[in-house]
Amino acid sequence: MALFITIEGGEGAGKSAVSAELAARMTASGVDLVTTFEPGGTALGRELRSLLFREQPATMEPISPWTETFLFLAGRAHHVETVIRPTLARGGVVLCDRFADSTIAYQAYGRQLDLERVREVNLLATDGLQPNLTLFLDVPALEGLRRAHPEEQDRIGMETVEFHNRVLEGYRRLALAEPDRIRTIDAGQPLAHVIEEAWALISPRLIRLGYQISA
Ligand SMILES: Nc1ncnc2c1ncn2[C@@H]1O[C@H](COP(=O)(O)OP(=O)(O)O)[C@@H](O)[C@H]1O
Ligand SMILES: [Mg+2]
Repeated sequence: MALFITIEGGEGAGKSAVSAELAARMTASGVDLVTTFEPGGTALGRELRSLLFREQPATMEPISPWTETFLFLAGRAHHVETVIRPTLARGGVVLCDRFADSTIAYQAYGRQLDLERVREVNLLATDGLQPNLTLFLDVPALEGLRRAHPEEQDRIGMETVEFHNRVLEGYRRLALAEPDRIRTIDAGQPLAHVIEEAWALISPRLIRLGYQISA
């Protein structure tokens, strides 16, 4: 019954915009849906998010890549335990903006931490939970950064273009390695097209769960 969908991609790829429209369509179809996001999605997660994303005060020691990783993973473990697993257990649908693939893309590829080690700790945090479907919104780093609102740029969003290009390379390799789970959508297209492609991937799965989908 349950379905776990994640949306991934770089800054300004359209994750928030696409999630909002998919959520509206699912809700209109009577889907028992929880829309959530990482980092965040729980009260603790939002505290961690502000620690991770704010500009570091000069008086604070810099956050090392592994420390950053563990802060993201602490939020993920809590999110899986308190929100995602309970929703799936009652047969609901979870739509999550960013999940474990973000950690592979940003910390293993972007920050260049050891890929196998990042995979291992990620697996501990998710307790082995994998999305049924992941939509990777693929847009060139510069185009995404141009779209992202400058006033909303955070500590990680402000990284170099080279960093964001490594992140995208990471996502593309993940998508090649797991083509059944991770579906790539060209997010350089107009937003309406991106949404239609995403919906075409999700709606058959909802129909299989017994939901009546009109559009
Ligand atoms: N395919 C698209 N074409 C043009 N603009 C887009 C597209 N997708 C998203 N946008 C716009 O780009 C900005 C960033 O999108 P957003 O959904 O916040 O990205 P993300 O959540 O992936 O960082 C928003 O103003 C959004 O409306
Ligand atoms: Mg967003």
